[in-house]
Amino acid sequence: MSKNFKRTLITTALPYANGPVHIGHLAGVYVPADIYARYLRLKGEEVLMIGGSDEHGVPITIKAKNEGITPQDVVDRYHGIIKKSFEDFGITFDIYSRTTSDIHKKTASDIFRTIYDKGGFIEKTSEQYYDEEAKQFLADRYITGTCPHCKNDRAYGDQCEACGTSLNPTDLINPRSTISGSNPVLKETKHWYLPLDQHEAWLRKWILEDHKEWKTNVYGQCKSWLDMGLQPRAVSRDLEWGVPVPVEGAEGKVLYVWFDAPIGYISNTIELLPNDWEKWWKSEDSKIVNFIGKDNIVFHCIVFPAMLKAEGSFQLPENVPANEFLNLEGDKISTSRNWAVWLHEYLEEFPGKQDVLRYVLTANAPETKDNDFTWKDFQARNNNELVAVFGNFVNRALVLTHKYFEGKVPACGALTDYDKSTLAEFSDVKKHVEDYLNIYRFRDALKEAMNLARIGNKYLADMEPWKLAKTDMERVTTVMNISLQITANLAIAFEPFLPFTAAKLRDLLGIASFDWKQLGSTNILAEGAQLKEPILLFEKIEDATIEAQVQKLLDTKKANDEANYKANPIQPNIEFDDFTKLDIRVGTVLECSKVPKADKLLQFKIDDGLETRTIVSGIAQHYKPEELVGKQVCFIANLAPRKLKGIESQGMILSAENNDGSLAVITPEKLVKPGSEVK
Ligand code: 2FM
Ligand code: ZN
Repeated sequence: MSKNFKRTLITTALPYANGPVHIGHLAGVYVPADIYARYLRLKGEEVLMIGGSDEHGVPITIKAKNEGITPQDVVDRYHGIIKKSFEDFGITFDIYSRTTSDIHKKTASDIFRTIYDKGGFIEKTSEQYYDEEAKQFLADRYITGTCPHCKNDRAYGDQCEACGTSLNPTDLINPRSTISGSNPVLKETKHWYLPLDQHEAWLRKWILEDHKEWKTNVYGQCKSWLDMGLQPRAVSRDLEWGVPVPVEGAEGKVLYVWFDAPIGYISNTIELLPNDWEKWWKSEDSKIVNFIGKDNIVFHCIVFPAMLKAEGSFQLPENVPANEFLNLEGDKISTSRNWAVWLHEYLEEFPGKQDVLRYVLTANAPETKDNDFTWKDFQARNNNELVAVFGNFVNRALVLTHKYFEGKVPACGALTDYDKSTLAEFSDVKKHVEDYLNIYRFRDALKEAMNLARIGNKYLADMEPWKLAKTDMERVTTVMNISLQITANLAIAFEPFLPFTAAKLRDLLGIASFDWKQLGSTNILAEGAQLKEPILLFEKIEDATIEAQVQKLLDTKKANDEANYKANPIQPNIEFDDFTKLDIRVGTVLECSKVPKADKLLQFKIDDGLETRTIVSGIAQHYKPEELVGKQVCFIANLAPRKLKGIESQGMILSAENNDGSLAVITPEKLVKPGSEVK
């Protein structure tokens, strides 16, 4: 296999334009891809980074329907928001376009047609649900019904969200169309399928033998797909929204969103380089790398390569460094549940702190397993690493240079053994960072880069130039020269990771442009070069700021719980006689007090119209005793007495349990005589 690549084509999964982008997107795909692209550019390599919005698919049509707008309105709104978020976070796309562009529709259509003309599809007719009122076939998400496993009556045609089971629409009991509410009927429809089974043999060799170097999470998922055996996959849908299937007699059918989306990488390259795009996609000396999240692995490692192979003129990806998922405070990030840190909101709440998020998401990237983003960790990494190590070191180096040398880089004198060992330590950093970046291990690469700051910090702390200044200014010049050279190294090493900070540093140091080759050098800054007045690169994030973010999430959870509230199912029917066995009465509370050594219990004395009875009730966490004295309550009068904490309770006070677990005692709507029967 040719490994003499001349250029690298980086593609990034196209996010669906049905919502803004959040930290999960950034951590999973765009920050690692951007680090990689920036690193290669800094090395002077020929690089292209392609992005765009995925604007087709059923969820977009559902959102449009719910809002009473067109799918185009939906994608126009979110494409703009997403594009801006990426720009704001310094993601350096060469192009960020969209799958509703004319070029894309033409490219996707042409590729389908080429495969079709070569006999690369099979046609199959199958029965699918059809809404006779709305006169349309129903995508899986447009069908709801009762889950055959857990009896949830709001399961979708592809999944029951209550029990998590994957479903086929025909599994649902009592299926209903979400469009008209009617019961759909099964009707025959023709679709085109990519016969993945026919591609299995070469895919097995290409992935399992020729690409053993792929990340273990990617390789493992591919292996299990291949071991299960591949089946033909439909690449068309009965839908209005999408790229029309370019075949006669295919009216009302569009390309399946997962057929057209990855072609977006190609169409966006064509849009950017109409005359020069082919060398990126069709020549063997181009290295194609697809950055994606784990739910996209099968499409990028199996389906898309099979499409490209069937088409016949494109190169396959050299690597697909997929990440796992980032969770948020222990829960799966979800657009529909608003469980996310949205990038545009983050920037409103943490203006200018793009690099803090880039840092935290890289340091905690879900590279081989799912990881959790917590605001506490965000704060700790900012305060203990960026502020205390990186910022502190750079600030001391610059402030001391201004204090002792009017901001000019002092000369480097004779080196002590300690200087030499410090320099030796940091001269290895370049290789370590490169080695990790070359194999897509961004967390480890960042840790190595951060090591430079740690080395610098330790050096300054050990050398204590502020003390040396009292006795040995010549030594101070060397110590500060070395510290400033380390600072310049930091600026280069961090350009791929924290580009905003690197740019500030470069400006402070007066470096015109970066060159990756200089990393590890102790001669980046010339003697006498004038430095600018220091500014703080990072600032401490206070507890109150973090608590506000945590509270925001708690509020979201509460709102979700309210929105999802559904009363418990009704118990099986009982006979009227069973009901009449219960003697429910109204009583007046004469006394009420806490039961000692029992958090939950209140003891009541109740006038039941005949005598005073004692009832013990577990409502102490919901009422103070004095709130209930004088009130009328309902209670079961003929419940066999039982002892609670040594007190005999003669009945049970009735209360209603709210969905958050709080209790409300049941009282008659107007005053009645104690002992009145409740019927
Ligand atoms: O999972 C997603 O968000 C898809 N929109 C990714 C598509 S990647 C590529 F194929 F465009
Ligand atoms: Zn279920």
